[in-house]
Amino acid sequence: MPFDDIREWITALERAGELKRVRAEVDPVLEITEIADRVMKKTGPALLFENVKGHPGARVLINQFGSVRRMNLALGVNSLDEIAERLRMFMDVKSPQGFLEKIKMLPMLADLGKFFPKTVSSGPCKEVIQRDSFSLLDFPILQCWPQDAGRFITLPCVISKDPRTGKRNVGMYRMQVYDARSTGMHWQRHKIGAEHYRNAMRAAAAADSASPEPEARSRSVEVMARTSGGARIPEGAAPKGKLEVAVAIGTDPVSTFCAIVPAPPDIDEFMIAGFLRQKPVELVKCETVDLEVPAQSEIVLEGYVNLDELRPEGPFGDHTGFYSLDDLYPVFHITCITHRKDPIYSTTIVGKPPMEDAWMGKAVERIFLPLMKLTIPELVDVNLPIEGVFHNLMIVSIRKSYPGQARKVMNAIWSLGQAMFTKCIVVVDEDCDVQDIREVVLRAFNHIDPERDIQFTLGPVDSLDHASRLPDFGSKMGVDATRKWPSEGFIRPWPDEITMSTEVKERVDRMWKSLGID
Ligand SMILES: Cc1cc2nc3c(=O)[nH]c(=O)nc-3n(C[C@H](O)[C@H](O)[C@H](O)COP(=O)(O)O)c2cc1C
Repeated sequence: MPFDDIREWITALERAGELKRVRAEVDPVLEITEIADRVMKKTGPALLFENVKGHPGARVLINQFGSVRRMNLALGVNSLDEIAERLRMFMDVKSPQGFLEKIKMLPMLADLGKFFPKTVSSGPCKEVIQRDSFSLLDFPILQCWPQDAGRFITLPCVISKDPRTGKRNVGMYRMQVYDARSTGMHWQRHKIGAEHYRNAMRAAAAADSASPEPEARSRSVEVMARTSGGARIPEGAAPKGKLEVAVAIGTDPVSTFCAIVPAPPDIDEFMIAGFLRQKPVELVKCETVDLEVPAQSEIVLEGYVNLDELRPEGPFGDHTGFYSLDDLYPVFHITCITHRKDPIYSTTIVGKPPMEDAWMGKAVERIFLPLMKLTIPELVDVNLPIEGVFHNLMIVSIRKSYPGQARKVMNAIWSLGQAMFTKCIVVVDEDCDVQDIREVVLRAFNHIDPERDIQFTLGPVDSLDHASRLPDFGSKMGVDATRKWPSEGFIRPWPDEITMSTEVKERVDRMWKSLGID
């Protein structure tokens, strides 16, 4: 059975020996990071801090996803391949031939009903409703690293709706605490929350252009397109208006995980959570905004971002292992906080890998492989090495059938959702195990003539890339490390790989003990 809330999840973690309670007093400013970092570097347990300095009675959960085992536990599987297999089954559906095949499909149809979130009338997140006298500073929010600009909410499910279609998005975007009632909203420019913000601007600008006021009509489209990346909005240049946002902190583990899933724009992450949980996510209506949040959340922040307000956000010690520099982002104004009576604050830290997010990213890699294969059918396997911090390096193996196919695959990856950020792609043949980095390095770099086999291109890059020539825009590199064919202009003979004959191996196996080496 899936976990309905973070409390059931904590109980399960404890039962599985995957959680340690920390009763000594610790400071949410830097100290929790130092402790959690040491534990994460050893792939150690989840931590529940029960004595947080300055926050009597508060509890902080960190590292809940920090190992393959805990990711599997959270998603209710023994191996992530089970999820990939379920996805494959759904994608494989053919029109049933005859009555028996129709009957066989019934369980799958019943499964479909479990995907969709269900709205309920109330839930534990409404135990305390604070419309007036609330303060974010009451929660044990961490300052993670010494040069961080302040305290940051790091594991939020940020919920917004596309003003054009009303479709919901759930994204995980960090939030810098500015004061008791406002935070930054760090949705990077390519993310769906940022697109909702721009769509709200477009709608407001369209309303303005119908306005008799000349000043309203002159607001520029270029300004609308900007939500970050060093762009300043000239005084009075952006349309007035707001976008409602709700933030759920401490949901059931699958819903929290789904906030990082790079789903296509119109796919509701709570539906993906329903698919993964095999049980619908229960949602309740917010008090002050027209949005729904998971009913079982520990803490819910309701509010809005103004369309004409950006403020410096950062620096922040990021998952690249370096600080991301300060930049302009929208400001989230809180109108109401609802929470459980004794809320558990759920958080993470990012920094030099491996950190907790490495295991979340690895889960995304496994779950998305069958989906990637839909558009890149020759794909055999993918590895995003943890130290490549997900957008810097992708190694893929392919079943090569025609000349130039490795380059076709690179271009397909660069046009596939958030895979567009990949700074370096290495393509190898299908007989190379991409999970074995030694094998990849040996083969890939033996198999290239760099000038011929490395391809550069320009395009969008991750907002966190601190080396690109411009924010959000730069170059990428593809390495074609497949065997080269005569049809690709390679006319020299390609050497065989060195392997011993089976007969000799077996002979040595039989004599091994008598050699007295071990
Ligand atoms: C711990 C953690 C923190 C993250 N913080 C941010 C962030 O501050 N801004 C951002 O744009 N993406 C951040 N991400 C990545 C996004 O959550 C991810 O790209 C997700 O797919 C975005 O959702 P969307 O596709 O609905 O926009 C973070 C991921 C993790 C695991």
